[in-house]
Amino acid sequence: MGQDLLEKRVAVLGAGKMGGILLQALLKNGMFSKALTCATVQHEERAKALSAKLKISVGTDNAAAVKGADIILIGVKPQVVDEVMNEIREQITPAQLIVSVAASVPTSLIEKSLRKKIPVVRAMPNTPCSLGSGMTAVCKGKYADAGHVAITCRMFDVVGRTVVVDEKHMDAVTGLSASGPAYIYIILESLAEAGVKVGLPRDIATLLAAQTTLGSARVVLETGDHPALLKDAVTTPAGCTIDGIMELEEGKLRVTLIKAVVRATQRAKELAFTS
Ligand SMILES: NC(=O)c1ccc[n+]([C@@H]2O[C@H](COP(=O)([O-])OP(=O)(O)OC[C@H]3O[C@@H](n4cnc5c(N)ncnc54)[C@H](OP(=O)(O)O)[C@@H]3O)[C@@H](O)[C@H]2O)c1
Repeated sequence: MGQDLLEKRVAVLGAGKMGGILLQALLKNGMFSKALTCATVQHEERAKALSAKLKISVGTDNAAAVKGADIILIGVKPQVVDEVMNEIREQITPAQLIVSVAASVPTSLIEKSLRKKIPVVRAMPNTPCSLGSGMTAVCKGKYADAGHVAITCRMFDVVGRTVVVDEKHMDAVTGLSASGPAYIYIILESLAEAGVKVGLPRDIATLLAAQTTLGSARVVLETGDHPALLKDAVTTPAGCTIDGIMELEEGKLRVTLIKAVVRATQRAKELAFTS
């Protein structure tokens, strides 16, 4: 498969929250051509509204949408994937690439369901993809090659950072970076409440909390320094920060976050769809 995505015919099956975020970002960035891109949803009215909004063809017929497509992005809920595979099985050929963002759905299930040697790449993005600040992990199925992974990474690089992992790590990715925005929003909300508690107006408290989170994350990413070292640099002996840290340790923030990721990872494993 060639690498120029603008020349690819693309079908997004299930352009809901995540499928829609990816579709919009890829069209906006000129990665995909509007003329060669189509999408499906379940409800006719949503199809009409989305088509008017994105100026692309949107329908409810998955089999028609995948006919002749080069790349097929699966954005339906995990429990609907098998049903959609049944609908498109007759149309699919090994020259096409399937990219699925469905959590807990292994590439092997899609491969088995299609009953052909179809290249499948599984991706686990997160909602900050909507602003180009997403984190996506990608792994390949049995019939996908390095070229298919490269094309998928190029798609997700447009909406943030991308990392390639073995499929055995996808549940952990789900528990950490796919669920992660929810944990961070709770931390941000709590920091903003704390600001209000110590007398700051809510909007200023929220700004301080959010920009501090963003800035700290950027320092970790851009310096590559261990977070513990960076924390030490903020912590003056007998200063204010060490008192704050003592409260965090007493409140077991670290172990709570570790347990949250472990539980979400376990849940992703429990939800794993098998064929
Ligand atoms: N949300 C996240 O943070 C996130 C992160 C990583 C991965 N994911 C994965 O992304 C997938 C979608 O999640 P979501 O949160 O975006 O859900 P969602 O907003 O409910 O989107 C699902 C979409 O699928 C459409 N749909 C349902 N049945 C269909 C069918 N038979 N044929 C075609 N389209 C159909 C729905 O159509 P209507 O609009 O007409 O109802 C809707 O547009 C899931 O597999 C999830 O694991 C989500």
